[in-house]
Amino acid sequence: MEKSDSFVQFGATGDLARKMTFVSLYRLAEKGRLDVPVIGVASNDWDVDTFRNRARADIVAAGQQIDEGVWQRLASSMDYVQGDYTRPDTYERVKDALSGASNPLFYLEIPPGLFETVVQGLYNEGLTRGSRVVVEKPFGHDLESAIQLNASLSGMLDEDQIYRIDHYLGKNAVEDIMVWRFANRMVEPIWNSDHIEAVMITMAESFDVSDRGHFYDDVGALKDVVQNHLMQVTGLLAMEPPTRNTPAAIHAEQVKVFDAIEPVEPGHFVRGQYDGYLDVDGVRDGSTTETYVALRIDIDSWRWAKVPFLIRAGKSLSLTATEVVVRFRRPPLTLFDQVGARVPDHNVMRLLLGPTGGVRLHLQAKDPTAGMTSVPVVAGIDFHQELGDELLPYELLLGEALEGDSTLFATQAMIEGTWRALQPVLDQPGEVITYRPGSMGPAEADAMAGRYGGWVDPVGGASDEPA
Ligand code: BG6
Repeated sequence: MEKSDSFVQFGATGDLARKMTFVSLYRLAEKGRLDVPVIGVASNDWDVDTFRNRARADIVAAGQQIDEGVWQRLASSMDYVQGDYTRPDTYERVKDALSGASNPLFYLEIPPGLFETVVQGLYNEGLTRGSRVVVEKPFGHDLESAIQLNASLSGMLDEDQIYRIDHYLGKNAVEDIMVWRFANRMVEPIWNSDHIEAVMITMAESFDVSDRGHFYDDVGALKDVVQNHLMQVTGLLAMEPPTRNTPAAIHAEQVKVFDAIEPVEPGHFVRGQYDGYLDVDGVRDGSTTETYVALRIDIDSWRWAKVPFLIRAGKSLSLTATEVVVRFRRPPLTLFDQVGARVPDHNVMRLLLGPTGGVRLHLQAKDPTAGMTSVPVVAGIDFHQELGDELLPYELLLGEALEGDSTLFATQAMIEGTWRALQPVLDQPGEVITYRPGSMGPAEADAMAGRYGGWVDPVGGASDEPA
């Protein structure tokens, strides 16, 4: 696969660029993985020096130490094109700035409504040939629009030119799900409905919508983080072992999971909105957009029949943490409760996905103070402590895209599978229930999980005890 010979960033003055892209590009440059021109495109009337200075300030604001040599090399490769995305002359200027590059990478970190416009502009200038196009989420806003968007892009690009980015797939701890499952002989034999009773995924954020009201009110929690991030996590948790470590083999198994998910029943879906959301700037009066969702997913396969996957995500909750809890069935014999005290707890495997990555196993050990009785103990691995620094998600993903490795990007079939599974609750979202900021969401979501032993809050949460 040919390496890209330039990096063109549409939306170069936007929030995502400022928070994530520049620092990622800097870190790639530092490691010698970015030695191509970087061209920012946006409507702001900046010159190239303003662009470079802003980028530098953003890299520093992201907490990155700057090495002057690395920065000078990166800065001297940076160029800026000012333009309106709807005007052909913008793409003429992009073409000039590319000065004959034959394998450019176009990164579209722009509002999704502009994806087609920009690709059309590039196509009209003959710039899509030999290129890769990285598109930000969300890809569509439901199944039909995702199909339409793809139909329109595929008139101008081949599928293997389109890289649908989801930064969760670039998180070290999320990728570790595959390594954890398939590089450890002890995990995979028990990773099925014979041994697992329920799988829960919680993405809790203690912060609110803040200054993102305009964006968020059109989207809501389901489309913002579940259809993409948490469904991708579900895919990695539930997939069969791929036959090879290739994009095609891995994507094929991920697609099978999404295809096997039964359309989510509206009765297995709870929507919440934190008290105070309606006062956020940019939120419509009386908006019913959800800032919290909880849902139950059923995967119709031999491995997962009758194992609920419970997913919840919300803003203004009591903590910030993303975590998978795999709750195992109890041992078939309750040997140890007969001697006295208590029924042994379920084993629980927690996969910590953020803000820190790790694994915790909730096991039983002999109670040293009593007879033959068990007590819960926790064994844990913190990836950072054990293994050191990791790549930033965008650093990894943009680096892979520049090199033409699409393993960590979503394919159209994956995207359609996730929208298809969620379509019934997009069609029938139901009422939105107000919840208290600082809580863990509406009580109705607890009732839904209660049937399966209840939610296990992420580490640091209110019930950080073995289930
Ligand atoms: C983004 C969402 O995709 O992911 C945000 O738009 C959310 O609303 C963010 O806060 C969470 O990402 P992370 O990496 O901080 O868990």
